[in-house]
Amino acid sequence: MHSNERANFGSKIGIVLASAGSAVGLGNIWRFPCEVGSNGGAAFILIYLLCIALLGIPVMVSEFLIGRHSRANTASAYKILAPGTQWKWLGFMGVIAAFLILSYYAVVAGWTLEYTVAAATDQFSRGGDFTAFFNTFVSNPWKPALYMALFLLLTHIVIIRGVKEGIEKFSKVMMPMLLLIICILVICSFSMPGSVEGLTFLLKPDFSKVTTKVVLSAMGQAFFSLSLGMGCLCTYASYFSDEANLMKTAASVATIDTIVAVMAGFIIFPAVYSVQGLSPDAGPGLVFVTLPNVFQIAFGNVPWLGYIFSVMFYVLFVLAALTSTISLHEVSTAYIHESYHISRSKAAYIVTGGCIFLGVFCSLSFGVLSDATWMGMTIFDLFDFVTAKFIMPLGGMFISIFTGWYLDRKLVKDEVTNKGRLRLPFFGLYIFILKYVAPLAIGAIFLNELMK
Ligand code: TRP
Repeated sequence: MHSNERANFGSKIGIVLASAGSAVGLGNIWRFPCEVGSNGGAAFILIYLLCIALLGIPVMVSEFLIGRHSRANTASAYKILAPGTQWKWLGFMGVIAAFLILSYYAVVAGWTLEYTVAAATDQFSRGGDFTAFFNTFVSNPWKPALYMALFLLLTHIVIIRGVKEGIEKFSKVMMPMLLLIICILVICSFSMPGSVEGLTFLLKPDFSKVTTKVVLSAMGQAFFSLSLGMGCLCTYASYFSDEANLMKTAASVATIDTIVAVMAGFIIFPAVYSVQGLSPDAGPGLVFVTLPNVFQIAFGNVPWLGYIFSVMFYVLFVLAALTSTISLHEVSTAYIHESYHISRSKAAYIVTGGCIFLGVFCSLSFGVLSDATWMGMTIFDLFDFVTAKFIMPLGGMFISIFTGWYLDRKLVKDEVTNKGRLRLPFFGLYIFILKYVAPLAIGAIFLNELMK
């Protein structure tokens, strides 16, 4: 398929913001604080930053170049670049992963929608026990599932509008707004009574807590947060223009994503230490229990301000999640649309329907199905484990090997330098990381964890 037949993003800033929209999401605001909390704080963050710089950016550039060069969905991309080989499974695994991630991601995204409604109908300003509120809500037999389905339908609406009119337009408005609101909330959070303790937890590393599990979690979180390892950014890159600078785009996306994650930590942890009975390792509910308190405490004297900020925040939380669900949805939609010659809108229906089906099970695993466990994990935990700790690191490793060892060096260089038009000081380092550092590091951490 040629580029002129396919949709494309319209501008460079659109490319950065759409990719950043994919990267910035619940992974930053919900999963990152939760992982930091259960893995001991600052030391985890340091390892996380290392993973982003050393593994994340090179793998992202690889996904970009695979996508842009082949100009196809991720499953077909490998068939085009490595015809007749087993590499096609790598792309296929990505499509499956996107589908699984979307199914459980939409559950948490649905929670954000419910919280928006709760904030808008002023249910938080009366104060009260937000832990109980959260537990009652997620274990409800039908409400969270309904919000999950609603969220997928919202995603569906943007997807069927297409790449430029849907995805790009949406990201260009949402991302700047999101950044602004986050800055305001950081300031609020710093004024809380527990801010010193919260910041100490975030900034003072305790290396005695570092185990291989912590390192694996940090790596999984880095891949998850940057949307890597399963063809999400590869699919977006298939819509990039020939002028886009892949290295620069990857560096910008990683920077935006990391700033948002760390700022989310700055918002959550001071609040965690300001409220009696909250602890940083509270698990998936952490953000949902903490945030209502942030607004309560910060704006105790001016309730209407608290109301406005909390509604605004939850709306933006929803929108951040939405730009990510869109990117996940696009992976499977583009695959079904292009590989089976089904219209884009029909393909989108198949994906939405399938994810709602799986999402119901993930959603119920917080209530009715909470006893359905496997090796101590609920269905929801299992989806998260299989994708973030298994498929994504493996995907990242094989993408590095594919780009570093299999692909023609000239092809790689042409893509990264836009056929020699860009100067590239780090090319040697980039290839070195892809050939040796990334596969060995990912493989070692991964095996170490599996041996136990
Ligand atoms: N990165 C997004 C977040 O932080 C989630 C996401 C979107 C994702 N696309 C992905 C995660 C692909 C893994 C793979 O919320």
